[in-house]
Amino acid sequence: MARILDNHLMEDEEALEPTLRPRYLKEYIGQDKAKEQLKIFIEAAKMRDEALDHVLLFGPPGLGKTTMAFVIANELGVSLKQTAGPAIEKAGDLVALLNDLEPGDVLFIDEIHRLPMAVEEVLYSAMEDFYIDIMIGSGDTSHSVHLDLPPFTLIGATTRAGMLSNPLRARFGITGHMQYYSVEALTDIVERTAAIFTMAIEHDAAVELARRSRGTPRIANRLLKRVRDYAQIMGDGQINKEVTDKALTMLDVDHEGLDYVDQKILKTMIELYQGGPVGLGTLSVNIAEERDTVEDMYEPYLIQKGFMMRTKTGRVATAKAYEHLGYTYPTEN
Ligand code: ADE
Repeated sequence: MARILDNHLMEDEEALEPTLRPRYLKEYIGQDKAKEQLKIFIEAAKMRDEALDHVLLFGPPGLGKTTMAFVIANELGVSLKQTAGPAIEKAGDLVALLNDLEPGDVLFIDEIHRLPMAVEEVLYSAMEDFYIDIMIGSGDTSHSVHLDLPPFTLIGATTRAGMLSNPLRARFGITGHMQYYSVEALTDIVERTAAIFTMAIEHDAAVELARRSRGTPRIANRLLKRVRDYAQIMGDGQINKEVTDKALTMLDVDHEGLDYVDQKILKTMIELYQGGPVGLGTLSVNIAEERDTVEDMYEPYLIQKGFMMRTKTGRVATAKAYEHLGYTYPTEN
């Protein structure tokens, strides 16, 4: 089954991504609000020759948080060191990373909500006053060592702002909320990617692809490659709207851009739970997906598009979901 939404990049994509990534704000399409703010704060920090204040980027996977972190570092003209919350197991791992920074550098921590508590606590003084106190040795001979750090910018990325502890969140001076991309922005991204790979794609095919990519550049770029494969083997290589539609239909991406799992989620709610309310845990078990995946990736888009609602007692499928999937919406009486 085609896994359009898979959170992890496939190998070929990892190799291709760096060339696709915009490097500067002016190349970065969409996220206008975040860009506008960052442009000002970056310029001001550069003018004062200071490290940029710490930045927290949040939003669903695939919307360009990592890309934005690299763009910020490039705009600042500094190096970026990249890590992820689950990769930092001990305070010592973080100390090693921090110790390696030059003044003004960016430390990018993806999935920052998954930092162990002991590590997070070390981060507080590092972020606030650029020092860390570490305990050396054990028992009677243990003592604390004070280590000054160069001023640096921490960029944290997380899928859900609500999962960050209050003390950590409070130490970020700049917050960027990544939004789903408009069809127009995604069309521009698809056309930019096609140009980089020297693929010819007709404009209305790019629009169709954009409309069916869940507002997510990572998905749009992935689907573009599959559409190109389809056009090459099943057509004459021309990427037009008709071929795009056929390829996406084959990949189980419907006309609203919902993929197989999205559809399964809504169908399960309707067929097994009379449209809900149903708890997220129960729903995840039924569709055999991780709860976090459903919560971070599928649910936000379904809610944003009006197919699902979150209520106090659980998730509910809306009339729009019934209609879209061809079910009759039960009327109250
Ligand atoms: N490729 C993927 N995301 C992009 C973006 N936001 N701007 C430009 N190119 C991209």
